[in-house]
Amino acid sequence: QSLQSYHTFGFDASCTEIKTIESLDGLTNSLALLTDKPFIVLGEGSNTVFIEDYVGTVLLNRLKGITVFEDDNFYHLNVASGENWHQLVLFCLERSIHGLENLALIPGTVGAAPIQNIGAYGVEIKEFIHSVEFVDVKSKRIGYFNNKECQFAYRDSVFKRDRTAERIIISVNFAIPKDNVVVTSYGPLAKLKKTSPKDIFETVVKTRQEKLPDPAEYGNAGSFFKNPIITLAQYFELQREYLNIPHYPSEDGKVKVPAAWLIDTLGFKGKKIGGIQCHEKQALVLLNLSDGKGHELLSLAREIRQSVLDRFDIQLENEVRLIGRNGLVSL
Ligand code: EPU
Repeated sequence: QSLQSYHTFGFDASCTEIKTIESLDGLTNSLALLTDKPFIVLGEGSNTVFIEDYVGTVLLNRLKGITVFEDDNFYHLNVASGENWHQLVLFCLERSIHGLENLALIPGTVGAAPIQNIGAYGVEIKEFIHSVEFVDVKSKRIGYFNNKECQFAYRDSVFKRDRTAERIIISVNFAIPKDNVVVTSYGPLAKLKKTSPKDIFETVVKTRQEKLPDPAEYGNAGSFFKNPIITLAQYFELQREYLNIPHYPSEDGKVKVPAAWLIDTLGFKGKKIGGIQCHEKQALVLLNLSDGKGHELLSLAREIRQSVLDRFDIQLENEVRLIGRNGLVSL
């Protein structure tokens, strides 16, 4: 079956079969049939790229449902993992539940959000996650991780890191403080005169629409690489040569530098290999111009990674999930 319309990069890759999961029973029944057979779970396919035909089953997560209750200090939301992320941001904004505005327009499902701790414009989702509910594939039991057990870090969590156990997220519990303060520290938000949650929402939507290509127009999966985290010593070393190298503070006194800047500085913007191009407006985004191929994407990504290593001595890691014939592949 073709996966072309199931991942935003739009390569014409196939898989053995696609199964749509709409209920917990549907999920456990499918898992029972799949024992020892290869499968992967896919939300909206906005951070997964099928670079080849995948020999296995794709489970499409379409679990739906949102429940809300509140106490004196928090709004508590239980959201099924197949809900669309941006629709949840809108749902909250309409009900004056504030905090998710900075994360507007991030493509994908709610279930994908904790896996890589989605973040944008100064906010990461880990700040609002109370716990995550999942099915443990081996035992078929339902489990919960509280915020700490999720081991959130920059674009990372136990769900992404721990490959010894397969866990399928079925819902996410959010606790959103009623006295949440808007975060306006990042880029275009810092210039705003009016900073109501609606202003933040609108600015984030506008900024993303300007810089990030619409997958309906050109296949892409947002940032292709993670922003690298380097030591302060290495940062000062680089700064001697590149006076204006941008940076953000990171954990443990380290420094995060924008991969987009490194790639842009090397002149990759607009560079093409076959049908794949480095985006002219945001160097961290790679585009499928029309009939790009998985191997062309790998070639361009590898060339970028090698050039960054040669020039800056920084090893880029991919942010997107690449799926080859037998499952997850690294660059
Ligand atoms: N820059 C360049 N050239 C470019 C683009 C950016 O030099 O072509 C420099 C500029 O100095 C700019 C800095 O890089 O100030 C940062 O750029 P931007 O604000 O566009 O953000 P980013 O670091 O490239 C990250 C996230 C995005 C998120 C934005 C906004 C990662 C891997 N990416 O990108 O997330 O939307 O910040 O918060 O952390 C995604 O994960 O798919 C994604 C789009």
